[in-house]
Amino acid sequence: MAELIAKLKNGGLQGWINERIGSLTYVIDYASKKTVPMHRQSVWYYFGGLTLFFFVIQIITGLLLLLYYKPTESEAFESFVFIQKEVPFGWLIRQVHSWSANLMVLMMFIHMFSAYFMKAYRKPRELMWLTGFVLCILTLGLSFTGYLLPWNTLAYFAVKVGIQTITYMPGGDFIARIVQGGDEVTGETLTRMFGLHVVLLPGLTLLVLSAHLILMQTLGTSVPIGYRERGLVKGDEPFFPNFLMKDFIGWMIGFALLIFLSVVFPWEIGEKADPLQPAPEGIKPEWYFWAQFQYLKQVPPVVAIVTLTIAMILWALVPFLDKKASREERDPKFTLFGIFTLGFFLIECFIVYYEYYVKSPAAH
Ligand code: HEM
Repeated sequence: MAELIAKLKNGGLQGWINERIGSLTYVIDYASKKTVPMHRQSVWYYFGGLTLFFFVIQIITGLLLLLYYKPTESEAFESFVFIQKEVPFGWLIRQVHSWSANLMVLMMFIHMFSAYFMKAYRKPRELMWLTGFVLCILTLGLSFTGYLLPWNTLAYFAVKVGIQTITYMPGGDFIARIVQGGDEVTGETLTRMFGLHVVLLPGLTLLVLSAHLILMQTLGTSVPIGYRERGLVKGDEPFFPNFLMKDFIGWMIGFALLIFLSVVFPWEIGEKADPLQPAPEGIKPEWYFWAQFQYLKQVPPVVAIVTLTIAMILWALVPFLDKKASREERDPKFTLFGIFTLGFFLIECFIVYYEYYVKSPAAH
């Protein structure tokens, strides 16, 4: 690396760029000094990169789908079938886009909970956590708005149920009216969701993601509490090229899984949505809304609104509440809160899975 830097510093190309933007030497110097701590929890550092990888896949495949997709009630389903059946490799692009969306959400959840349990939100990384929290909302928004676009029966009714679930979240009524363009899911909703899905939400995500990644570069990677003091850090390896190469292996494994899922378990095309038809049996929202969906069946709506609002606020503000976080100490209250939140999601999701796929699979 040092040799490369010296070569570039003396080389004409760098001189040319430096004269114009003046920062290449700084970037190369910085990159050559960036390191990642090595310890038994290092594996969790790959999940932010994997989330980013699937986000890039989403942008590329989304742009390709845009070449043929038409966002109106009369044409959406037909253009979607055209992509799946007529456009060369259109089926693959659509399947990869759908599976990559799910994998991105999954990787993001793993990344968020691992950052939580490693207390990576502690001082001075409060803003990393807050930007991450906003990214979580934006990513769920992107997945949700994209789900309606095929305009098939399943998408239509699942989004209807999903919107009902959202109305029980903080500010949910307001969000529901904005995205629906009225009180019902109609062609107006489709066009609005399209606008949100391809312009507003990706734009905001790119903006907040840039802040998240710039903060990451400025602050460096955190080490779990007490690891350095107890000698559990085996060393710090250079990011370029060592860690990046390992990240790359992770992306290739993610890519192989993505292609496998897209080819072996393709998402269905279904029938064109007909808002006048009754909802088919066993409709449920996408898996990342299962917990809220199930919780709403178990408690009165007002209890759901109050508890979910409080939990979301606590989750977002955890770096400011976990006071011990700034002093290399653990506070078991916050670890318990994390275990409770994760447990709540897993148990509620399991109940939905059990009821829909194990207990009465024929009805669903
Ligand atoms: C679109 C979604 C997201 C992307 C693409 C993303 C990307 C990344 C990347 C590449 C890193 C550096 C590598 C790593 O530590 O994994 C990182 C670090 C971090 N992210 Fe995210 N992230 C996302 C969402 C979130 C969420 C939802 C949270 C929490 C609410 C979060 C909190 C953090 C924190 C605290 C760090 C610092 C980790 C450390 O220093 O150990 N991120 N993120």
